[in-house]
Amino acid sequence: MPLDVATAILQRRATKVFDATHEMPEHDLAALLDLTRRMPTAFNIQNWRFVVVRDADLRREIRAVAWDQPQVTDASALLILCADIKAWEKSPGRYWQDAPETARTTMVGMIDQYYRGREQVQRDEGLRSCGMAAGAIMLLAESMGYATCPMDGFDFDAVGRLIRLPADHEIVMFVAVGKSAAPPKPCGGIMPREALMIDDRFPG
Ligand SMILES: Cc1cc2nc3c(=O)[nH]c(=O)nc-3n(C[C@H](O)[C@H](O)[C@H](O)COP(=O)(O)O)c2cc1C
Repeated sequence: MPLDVATAILQRRATKVFDATHEMPEHDLAALLDLTRRMPTAFNIQNWRFVVVRDADLRREIRAVAWDQPQVTDASALLILCADIKAWEKSPGRYWQDAPETARTTMVGMIDQYYRGREQVQRDEGLRSCGMAAGAIMLLAESMGYATCPMDGFDFDAVGRLIRLPADHEIVMFVAVGKSAAPPKPCGGIMPREALMIDDRFPG
């Protein structure tokens, strides 16, 4: 029975110790990524790319440039969330393939107008998309009985070389997914809502 969203949020923790013997069925991984693909992206450009690292040797090589963090090799799935920074200009009609032709033409024009020449926006958009995807992966995985660890403790350039990252892509983060093998340490603390919530404007 999948968990409701609130329970998945409350239950999720960054898991440091995974059961290294557990193998994730392909259909679970497919379900995870199929639902994640339903998260939103600006102009529906779907600029996320999900590298699923299955090769055990490659996992060991990645771990060596990730502060030797055991999650990298011991999780059932290691997902490397990458942004295709130039997705906006790669046949953008495919992002609106199911829309009426007039709508598709309009959207393709808007995409070009919005992104062309705006290098930082192109990159930031990739970070936004992958951030949302990571959140979805963690909550979906939790609801399916898996634990996760979001990670950016690694040498981005070295990992990029190991996975042959294309020049117009950026690695955003990892999400390790698997079965927890040890209870998490107590939560470090959640800031009070008042410290995080701003009414209308920041103080002048
Ligand atoms: C972007 C990001 C990067 C992180 N990188 C690592 C990491 O490299 N290794 C690790 O053990 N935890 C990592 N964490 C986990 C955080 O330390 C953890 O989420 C935070 O302390 C809150 O704890 P909780 O997730 O258990 O509630 C990362 C979390 C985020 C969101």
